[in-house]
Amino acid sequence: MTTLQAELDHVDQLAPDESLTTREGWRRFVEHQSAPPVLPTAAELTALSARARAELVQARRDYHSDLPLAHTPVIRKLLTTGRLLVQLNRGQISARRGMILSGASGTGKTTALTQLGRTHERAVRKRHPGRAGQDRIPVVYVTVPTDATPKMLAVEFARFYGVEFGSRATMPDIVNTVCAVAARTHLELVLIDEIHNILDTRARAEVSDQLKYFAERLPATFAYAGIEVEERGMFAGPRGRQIAGRFTLIDSTPFDYGTPEHKTAWRSLIATLEHSLRLHRHQPGTLVEQADYLYERTGGAIGSLSVLIRGAAVLAIEDETEQITLDLLDLIPLDHTATSTTPVRRRTTKGRR
Ligand SMILES: Nc1ncnc2c1ncn2[C@@H]1O[C@H](COP(=O)(O)OP(=O)(O)OP(=O)(O)O)[C@@H](O)[C@H]1O
Ligand SMILES: [Mg+2]
Repeated sequence: MTTLQAELDHVDQLAPDESLTTREGWRRFVEHQSAPPVLPTAAELTALSARARAELVQARRDYHSDLPLAHTPVIRKLLTTGRLLVQLNRGQISARRGMILSGASGTGKTTALTQLGRTHERAVRKRHPGRAGQDRIPVVYVTVPTDATPKMLAVEFARFYGVEFGSRATMPDIVNTVCAVAARTHLELVLIDEIHNILDTRARAEVSDQLKYFAERLPATFAYAGIEVEERGMFAGPRGRQIAGRFTLIDSTPFDYGTPEHKTAWRSLIATLEHSLRLHRHQPGTLVEQADYLYERTGGAIGSLSVLIRGAAVLAIEDETEQITLDLLDLIPLDHTATSTTPVRRRTTKGRR
């Protein structure tokens, strides 16, 4: 097991939600560690009180709704590139290099971006333990609002830092305050999610310029994530060409299934997720045997695969069968993309029913 996988095993998926876009929520995410619940033997179970048993069931239900993360190729690539760029950008006064993670919805972009931030911040905290380290805010995570204006973008940064402004605050007030706080707290990495919203907004040119201004004034490495930004013209025009020249593009695509190597990678992803299950009667390896079926249902999207496995695990606890079967997997509804791009043929695979 790689060290990263070992580290990821202790991270719940902790839904990358709104709360990550504030300093407190982000810090909770960075510091959060959890261990999988212990699976008692049959004898230990019968010795427990009804209440203790119910608590254990609830703990396992919670755990399976939010399984640990797998170390995917996208996470690996983003972390390696991110580490390198942060190093290369240190001491660079301008023209710092950045990264853009682009791909379809549900392919794990937000997960990879937040893992990059988490890994970086934990490394910084290790290097600066104690009080001095606590005052550092090395990573900022913001999302671009839909129909964003330059001011809305600036306010997102301020909101992360917990700085509030009255309605009469001007753009320079907000931007200057953000830059001052960033300098005081040693900002090193800026993560901007939902970057495709910039491409859709009416104020596209102004918002892009505002972002560029931040990228010049904040002495940090910038990493963006968004849905299919290349296809949507992120690199078109003079502004786009400048981004193209400075940013490394990392594709976040669904898993492929064409070659034996692809199949091995898909099976190994399933094996990692299966390994994290804590069900009483689940036979290890039975999910990996269903690799074809799981690919047909999900089209290789990790988001859909994760919903299928987590959903079936929760149902297996609720109906007390304690194992994932094809019948249970069949019961889990998937998102529209997975169902529309991968029509589910009635399986021919022989499976445990
Ligand atoms: N490395 C991983 N290991 C396990 N599950 C993962 C991993 N990456 C993503 N997932 C699962 O896939 C779901 C979707 O991932 P995520 O939200 O990161 O996708 P996204 O590409 O950002 O999607 P969108 O474009 O819709 O924002 C997550 O909620 C998580 O459950
Ligand atoms: Mg996302």
